[in-house]
Amino acid sequence: MPSLAKTPFDFDTLIDRRGTASVKWDKYGKRDIIPMWVADMDFGCAPAIVDALRRRVDHGIFGYSNPPAGLIDATIAHLKNEYDWQIEPDWIVWLPGLVVGLNVVCRAFGREGADVLTAVPIYPPFLSAPANAARNAVRVPMTESDGAWRWDIAALERAITPSSRLLLLCNPHNPVGRVFSRGELRAIAEVCARHDLVLCSDEIHDGLVLDRDKRHVPVASLGPDIADRTVTLMSASKTFNLPALGCAYAIASTPDLRNKLRKAMAGIVHHIGLMGYVATEAAYRNGKEWQLALLDYLRGNRDLVEREISAMSGLRAWHAEATYLSWIDARGLPAGDAVKFFNDAGVGLYDGALFGAPGFLRLNFACPRALLEKALERMSRALRSPHE
Ligand SMILES: Cc1ncc(COP(=O)(O)O)c(C=O)c1O
Repeated sequence: MPSLAKTPFDFDTLIDRRGTASVKWDKYGKRDIIPMWVADMDFGCAPAIVDALRRRVDHGIFGYSNPPAGLIDATIAHLKNEYDWQIEPDWIVWLPGLVVGLNVVCRAFGREGADVLTAVPIYPPFLSAPANAARNAVRVPMTESDGAWRWDIAALERAITPSSRLLLLCNPHNPVGRVFSRGELRAIAEVCARHDLVLCSDEIHDGLVLDRDKRHVPVASLGPDIADRTVTLMSASKTFNLPALGCAYAIASTPDLRNKLRKAMAGIVHHIGLMGYVATEAAYRNGKEWQLALLDYLRGNRDLVEREISAMSGLRAWHAEATYLSWIDARGLPAGDAVKFFNDAGVGLYDGALFGAPGFLRLNFACPRALLEKALERMSRALRSPHE
C-alpha cells in the first residue's frame, strides 16, 4: 500500500539501481534477491541536495578544495539547533568517512597491543578497526531485557585491564536500534573517566531517531569533562543517503585529541571530495523538510517490519528506536543457515555473525514500501513452506 502521508517527496517509487555500480544491488548478480543488507537507502536524495550538487557541477572546475566556510557554519548551527551542542570551528576534523574515522581513532590512541573495548553486537568495523591498528578488540556482550538491549556496565568494568585505552560507542546503535538515554551515556562516560579511557562515539545515525519520545544526545554534549576525552564521529551521509560522496567529520574539543587524530591521518587519509562538502552543507541548511518526511516514511516501514516479523515463527525482531535497520534473532529457525535460507527465498539479509552475533540477522527497511512488503511476503512464505 502506498504511503498516505501528504508530502512533496516521493518515497514510494522504486528507482532502478541495477547497473549503477551499487554495492547493495550488485551483490546478488542476476539472482532474484531483494537486497536488504548494507545500510544505504533506495530513496532518491533530497531535491535541495541534488540542486546544490547540480549547481556545483555547472561550475565545471573540481580542483583541490578546502572545507567551505559556509559548511563549517552550517555544521555548527546544525549541532546547536538539533542537540543544543555548542562546538567551536576548530574542533572539527574533516574525514572521508566514518569507517576511516574508526580506524584513525584506533591508531591515534594507545600503543600497539592496547585493548579497545566495545559492546556486541556491533557494526563490523568496530571489531576490525582495532585489529587493523594492531590493537585488541575486547567485546563486552550487551544485555537484553524487557525488549531492549543495553550496555552491561558491570561487565564493561570487569573487561577493563591496564592495557585498555579506548572505548568505541555506537549511538544510536547499529544494529540494535537503541537511542541511549542521558543516564546510560553518563554511565559509559563515567567508566571512561574512572579508567582514563578515550571515548569514541560513532553518531552517524543521529538524524534517524524514529521514536517520537526519544532524542539523540551527543555524549560529548553532556559536559566539558566528558567532551575532553571524547572523539565524536558524525556525517550527514546516513540520514541523507550520501555515503558515496565521502564526507564525514570528527569533533574533538582538545588540541591533544585533535593532534593525535591528525598525526594518525598524516599522508594517508585523503582529502574530502568537494561534492561531499557541497551535499553536506545543503543537507544541513535545506534538508530538514525532506528528513522529517523520510522519518515518517521509515516509521511506517519499521512498524510493518516489526508487525510482520512478530507473526513469523522462529523469528524475533527488536524495536528499532532509531536507524532503518531491524535486528532479528533467527536462532529459532529449523534451517541452520538463516542467511542462505532467506537468500533462497529471494531476500538478502546481513549475517549477524559479522556483528559478533551468529544466528542473528539485520534487515534494512529503507526502501519503497511495496518492495518491503514483497520481501516480507517472501520471508513469510518461505517459513510456511515445509523445511527440507
Ligand atoms: C555505525 C556506523 N558507522 C559507520 C558507518 C559507515 O560510515 P562511512 O560510510 O562514512 O564509512 C555505518 C554504515 O552503515 C554505520 O552504521
